[in-house]
Amino acid sequence: MYQIAPSMLSADFTRLGEQLQILEDAGCEWLHIDVMDGAFVPSISFGMPVIKSIRKQSKMFFDVHMMVEEPGRYVQDMKAAGADAITVHAEACKHLDRTLQQIKEAGLKAGVVLNPATPLNVIDYVMDKLDFVLLMSVNPGFGGQSYIPAITEKIRQLRKKLDDAGYTNVDIEVDGGVNKKTIDEVLEAGASLLVAGSAVFGEDIAANFKELKSHFPA
Ligand code: DX5
Ligand code: ZN
Repeated sequence: MYQIAPSMLSADFTRLGEQLQILEDAGCEWLHIDVMDGAFVPSISFGMPVIKSIRKQSKMFFDVHMMVEEPGRYVQDMKAAGADAITVHAEACKHLDRTLQQIKEAGLKAGVVLNPATPLNVIDYVMDKLDFVLLMSVNPGFGGQSYIPAITEKIRQLRKKLDDAGYTNVDIEVDGGVNKKTIDEVLEAGASLLVAGSAVFGEDIAANFKELKSHFPA
């Protein structure tokens, strides 16, 4: 399954509803929602009230990226707010296996996120609880950063690791610096879920979204 997941962090919050509607009308099915706690990452973004409010208007799949220490504390709140998937940083969970179980038990899709410097072997014993793995291709905390080239090889290795272990259905999501210049190498390496913030929320949101989508293999 290929998806462009626009990162709401780059939206104009004075026109949030309108901008999300433009995306949905353009055929966008996934929305990437970056929740930051000011502890795991330097910045603070938004939380449950905002998600709850856009949930009323949108049918998109809400892919909630928790840049939060011990995100297991918020699984029920995020579910109630309207999350469809919760993705947690391996670096932020003392008990990653338990946190993933909590997400699955809540009936949500579960993903684990790895920072650029985090090795792939942290997922070795939790693969059976994953719907997707999110590789950060920038250091988390801000939109508009440049893609870290070393992540292309990491995507390739992750695809091989998952396939070798029999998890061919577990998708790879990539987050950070994905734009029309970098998307082809990210796709070619084996990612299928592509987060894009600054590359979507520019002048013409619908055109930017469609242009990125046009890079998907036929
Ligand atoms: C970074 C966030 C990303 C970010 C992506 O911490 O997780 O989702 O908004 O923004 P761009 O696509 O501009 O790098
Ligand atoms: Zn993100």
